[in-house]
Order: sequence, then structure tokens, then C-alpha cells
Amino acid sequence: MKRILTIVGARPQFIKAAAISHAIRDLYADKLTEDILHTGQHYDDRMSATFFKELDIPTPRYNLGVGSGAHGHQTALMLSGIEEVLQQERYDGVLVYGDTNSTLAGALAAVKMQVPVYHVEAGLRSFRMSMPEEVNRVLTDQVSTLLFVPTEKAVKNLEREGFDKDRIVCCGDVMLDNVMHYAALLPQPEAVTPPTILATIHRDFNTDSPERLTNILSGLNEAAEALGAQVVLPLHPRTRNRIDSMATNPLGGHIRPIEPLSYLETLAALRNARLVMTDSGGLQKEAFFSRRPCAVLRAETEWSEIVDCGAAILTDDDPQRIVQAAKQLWKLHPAEPTQFGDGHAAERIVGAIAGR
Ligand code: UD1
Repeated sequence: MKRILTIVGARPQFIKAAAISHAIRDLYADKLTEDILHTGQHYDDRMSATFFKELDIPTPRYNLGVGSGAHGHQTALMLSGIEEVLQQERYDGVLVYGDTNSTLAGALAAVKMQVPVYHVEAGLRSFRMSMPEEVNRVLTDQVSTLLFVPTEKAVKNLEREGFDKDRIVCCGDVMLDNVMHYAALLPQPEAVTPPTILATIHRDFNTDSPERLTNILSGLNEAAEALGAQVVLPLHPRTRNRIDSMATNPLGGHIRPIEPLSYLETLAALRNARLVMTDSGGLQKEAFFSRRPCAVLRAETEWSEIVDCGAAILTDDDPQRIVQAAKQLWKLHPAEPTQFGDGHAAERIVGAIAGR
């Protein structure tokens, strides 16, 4: 029996880890056991506990309670806490997800103790090293024993960087597994009046610059006005804090701010939306998997497959580009996604770990 330690900390990681935990429980319970370590990077109920309950994720055996902080400080606390756990208990591998500070801390703690690192969502590149996520994913890939890669394009990124083919497993995207599984359990979409645009903004470079944040919000508001629509904007706590601290309210009359949504609420909101506008990587994909067009509120994306096939448009923070993209995408119905596997990524990942 192999013992795996799964490291999670931020909202999108709970969603990805759910698919893997379910595959271990349902298909490989005789070969693998899993303990979950929550770094505590996200801690508000609506950012964390809600996802564990809704997605039936096993209760973490460890919770480091690290909380928010500067990148170095936050990552250092995680690194030291994870190392302590790995010193106390023997694990045959550490499973990390995506590109957050929790990902890098888990990978670094494990590799230094010669515990194999398994990276789910490896090989992604935005080619912008000023993003903390790009640093996290590039470094995590370097120290991973097995790189679980969602798309062919990500395989090419790794091949270009000289990674040994034996370390790369192209398995599809676990987020597609989840969308396919949970979409079948959701009620039918409702006709919503006025039609909605689902939007999220949480990247530090968008929230922490009042100019960019104001630009984006005015672009969203104008787009909604032009299309006779309403923007529904679930607010990340950081974005809410920034908006609250501004001298004048930057939200126009066509934007409805709401609390962060749970996973199933997000899928339902996606179904009821005509268009998505976001700087989130995860929501870009979930929009595509739900066959909704997406304006990406960034200058580049690591999920360029979606832009390449015309289902998403990059707008950066330019209000005119945001309005133009919204108009262009309004009537688009993206085709069935083919670039992200077949909805069975988790089985392949767990199978590969169990077999090594
Ligand atoms: C992190 C990830 C990002 C991911 C995102 C998903 C890094 C570098 N970034 O960004 O890749 O897309 O999670 O949501 O790891 N806060 C709360 N309550 C919480 C969590 C955060 O109030 O439960 C506030 C705090 O003010 C905190 C800020 O949000 O300082 C940012 O949180 P942090 O975890 O540092 O980064 P995210 O923006 O959430």
C-alpha cells in the first residue's frame, strides 16, 4: 500500500483534489491511501470549508493555518510546516496541484527530503515570470518526479524545456472530469432576465492597481449596458477589500457584486450566463467546458488553447477592448472541448501513481 500526502491550500486546489480523492476512494483504495494537508492559505468558510463539504473531500489530517501574508513569509511558513509533517510520517509521494504558493511549498519540502513529487496541472506557461504563479509552476515542474499534463500544448512546453519524456504523463484535465461529473447533477439552465455576464477579478496585478481595477470595472459596466445585460460579480475577499477602500465606488449600475460562490453555484451560474469575463485560469476553463465564451481580463493566458480556437479573447484592462470582446463573443456558442482530454484524467493520474 502506497501512502500519499496531498497538499492543498487555495480554492481551485480543493476542486482539483476532489477529483483525485474520489478516484482513489472509488478505484484504488486497495493500492493507495491518502492524507490531506491544508496549508491554510485560504481560510474563510466561503473560500475553503464550503468546498470540502460540497465536494465530499476527506477532512484534512493536517491544517497548518498559515493564512495570508507576503509571498516569502507565507511560503516559508508552509515549507517549514510541511517539512515537519514529512519528518514525522513516512509518505511515498507528495501530490501538488496547479501553481499557488501552497504548490511550490509542498514540492520544495518534499524534494529536499527525497520524497517523489507528483504535479497535477504541470507544463502550463504564461511566459510572464513577473506572475507569482509562473514562478511557482516553473519551479514545481523542475522538481517533480511525474508531471501530469492536461494538454498536448503543455507537453510541448515541457519538451521544449528539455524534460525527459518518461516524466511526462498527458492525462487530460481534472477540471473537465469535475465539470462533466457535476454538470449532470445540476438543474436545467434557467432563462434569466436581463441576460447575465458572470465576471470575476482576483489577480493581484488587477486588484492592487486602482487604475487597472477601475478600468476593468468600467469596461464590464459599459459592456453590460451595451448588451442590455447585467454583470454578476462574485467577489474574492481581496477584491472586495480593494473596492471598499476606494474613495468613490467604482461599481457601475450594471454590476451586481455578490459573495464568493461555491463550486456547484459556480457551475449553475455558468449555465445561466451568456458570457464570462475573468482573470481566473480555472474559470476560463470551466467556461469553455460549459461551452460559454470568455473575455480574459489579462494580457496573456496559460490556457492559450481556448484563445486559439476562438472561444476566448484577451482584453487586458482596456475598457474598449473589453466592450468590443463582449460584443464579439455575445452570440458565440463554443464547440465541444477536445483539447483537455475525455473527463477521465483523475483515473489516469491515480493509476500512474499506483503503478510506479
Ligand atoms: C491564490 C493563488 C492564485 C489562485 C488563487 C485562487 C498564489 C500566489 N496565488 O491567490 O494563483 O488563482 O489563490 O483563488 O498562491 N483572503 C481572505 N480570505 C481567504 C483568502 C484570502 O480574506 O480565505 C484575502 C487576504 O487579504 C489575502 C488575499 O485575499 O491577502 C490574497 O490571498 P492569497 O492566498 O495570497 O492569494 P489569492 O489572490 O487568493
